[in-house]
Amino acid sequence: MRITTKLTLIISCLLMVLFITLAWASYRHDQALALQETVDEARTIARQIVEIREYLSLVVRVEQVEQNAGLTPQVAATRIALRLTQDSPYYVRQVSLRYRNPQNQPDAYERETLQQFRGSQLKERFQIVGEGNQKALRYLLPMVADQSCLACHGSFEQAPRFVQQRFPRGHPSYNYQAGELIGAISVSVPLSSLQQTILKNMRRELLLEGLIVLLLVAVTGWLIHRTILSPVAKVAEGIETAANSGNFSSPIAATNNDEIGRLVNSFNELMAELERRTRQRHESDERYRNFIEIAQSPIVTFLPDGKIVITNQKAEKLFGLSKDELLGQSIFDFMADPSIVRQGIENYFSAGSSQLLGNSNRHTLRDICGREIEVEMVVSVSQSEHEAMFTAILRTIKT
Ligand code: HEC
Repeated sequence: MRITTKLTLIISCLLMVLFITLAWASYRHDQALALQETVDEARTIARQIVEIREYLSLVVRVEQVEQNAGLTPQVAATRIALRLTQDSPYYVRQVSLRYRNPQNQPDAYERETLQQFRGSQLKERFQIVGEGNQKALRYLLPMVADQSCLACHGSFEQAPRFVQQRFPRGHPSYNYQAGELIGAISVSVPLSSLQQTILKNMRRELLLEGLIVLLLVAVTGWLIHRTILSPVAKVAEGIETAANSGNFSSPIAATNNDEIGRLVNSFNELMAELERRTRQRHESDERYRNFIEIAQSPIVTFLPDGKIVITNQKAEKLFGLSKDELLGQSIFDFMADPSIVRQGIENYFSAGSSQLLGNSNRHTLRDICGREIEVEMVVSVSQSEHEAMFTAILRTIKT
């Protein structure tokens, strides 16, 4: 797999994790926010209803209510609440433990909350209740009877006639004291509508964040490719061509002064050094060849396996072959008894020294026509980088 692909994959994964974490965090945040907003809205509605009731209770006179039941605080507030919450998911009721109208009978949750309000100084209560699709936010705001309410909710005797007629003596909705809890405004919002708002926001955010992530991946991928990968690829290419062609003389252009630039410079220095050494070696090889070429004795340089790599004119004449014919042949093929030299080379490698080296020994050689030639032979060894090379200087013995 190419580094670009790998890096892009890694970066994408990291960004993906970041993206998901952010999305999750923002979902939680949105949820908390939406809940907060819903509670605020429910609170506002409930307070408005309470205000309306208290206002009506204060200003509307009993005779007016007798003529128009729609002015009863409870009735008017119910109708206003209906109009207020039309086309909204909010649902408002006004409930009491000692209700007059069965429609205002509290449900289980409202009953429990009213009982809580009765025994405490709680200013409000909200909670998410229900399961699955029935999940809803419930908000309750307690209502306390003030002096004006007692006109109809105080003693039976004081209550206006139309109230007395509807609710006979002994009805639990009488005999409230000023300051006593009389009921509560109950607002409920199905959570599905809340969820819908969150999801709508989420979708927008996810789309935006997804686009940003894509852009980030593209930009970082491009930047990494430009600043790191393509210069590195150039260096790799340079090394490859140099290794294949053996030509170390074409430097790679460094684009920046950064780490990659330094790598390129070091590489160029290395190449220059290699180039210098190769030239030096060629030169010294050349010198050596020239030197042995003019020597007065036959000289043969061969590898441990006997393969002849350098010869001079005198050697060519001795064996009766041209240089081209002689190079690549095995020196052993020209010896009457090659085992001594072979053994000597073996000893050199196993023991590090050999009787063969540096000493003059007599050998019988055969030239290309099979004629035997007696020679004195001195062998020396030179260790190059890769392998040992043996050089034999020969002197023919006239017989
Ligand atoms: C003019 C008479 C009158 C006044 C003043 C009045 N109420 Fe009522 N109230 C009623 C009547 C009548 C009902 C029943 C309405 C219905 O049929 O839904 C009622 C119902 C209620 C209910 C609903 C529970 C139930 O019993 O059905 C609450 C809560 C309530 N009143 C609280 C108050 C408060 C708080 C005040 C003072 C701010 C107040 N009322 C002032 C006449 C009055």
